[in-house]
Amino acid sequence: MTTVYLNGQFMPASEAKISPMDRGFLFGDGIYEVIPSYHGRFVGFKPHIARMQDGLSQLSIDPALHLADWQSICQRLLSDNRNTNGDNQAVYIQVSRGTDSKRNHAFPANIKATVFAYAFPIAPEPIADKSKATTFNVVTGQDLRWQRCHIKSTSLLGNVLHYQQGYASGAQEILLFDKDANLTEGAAVNVFVIKNGVIATPPLTNKLLPGITRLLLLDILRKHSSITVEERDISEQEVFAADEIWLTSSSKEIAPVLKVNEHTVGNGEVGDVWLAAQKLFSQHKYDELV
Ligand code: PDD
Repeated sequence: MTTVYLNGQFMPASEAKISPMDRGFLFGDGIYEVIPSYHGRFVGFKPHIARMQDGLSQLSIDPALHLADWQSICQRLLSDNRNTNGDNQAVYIQVSRGTDSKRNHAFPANIKATVFAYAFPIAPEPIADKSKATTFNVVTGQDLRWQRCHIKSTSLLGNVLHYQQGYASGAQEILLFDKDANLTEGAAVNVFVIKNGVIATPPLTNKLLPGITRLLLLDILRKHSSITVEERDISEQEVFAADEIWLTSSSKEIAPVLKVNEHTVGNGEVGDVWLAAQKLFSQHKYDELV
């Protein structure tokens, strides 16, 4: 049976109840995180919690929980659910502004944040082997989301509609471009483009989520390789001229893209730079960021 955490207590999932007047339900007024773990070890735990706390403070939501509290909640979810979920689990955390007696857009005074977390099984950790990589075909589209994409908000309808747009045309993700035809990100991933051995990814602005896999990968590449890494604007033409394209997220780590619309990326195979990057990522992903 699945054990979940709700507002200070661990309980069977079937007993977890949240009011329909919760602002997370009515307005999508909340922040979430997804933190992967393999064999009981989280990847990027501290930066995930730091990003969540940053999002919460931007929304003036204070669940009154600190890093050590989150550590014990998440570790307990892993151990309580290991029999059901197996060795590889992610923890989903959602903090909403809380439940009010009426529906009013203004932030209510004196309500308590709703804190929910549960663990779910994920695929085994990706390995640096070209023949075992999970590859993606993507389509492209204009980014129609709001101007606060750096906040990991539970208001995900913009992302859901873009994801569905890709899915409906037979792709597994969508690459989004702003009104100047510069790359932002995917519906649920950050994007990297490789040309002549140089790795580039869009800079952190309000147009994209500051992904933790992106953060770890940039840090690892800069510390442990001599590959040039650039954070800069990337045009649509550059995407189509790339030798390799990667998608990054907590569950995928670094995933090669082989097709964009009808266009084949590079030589149509998983690339050498991907192999080098995934190898380094696998080696160093548990290192602490300094
Ligand atoms: N998605 N960009 C968007 C819009 C995302 O939703 C995500 C993650 C990422 C990658 O971030 P990270 O490396 O921190 O996982 C980028 C999560 C996993 C989700 O919504 O399920």
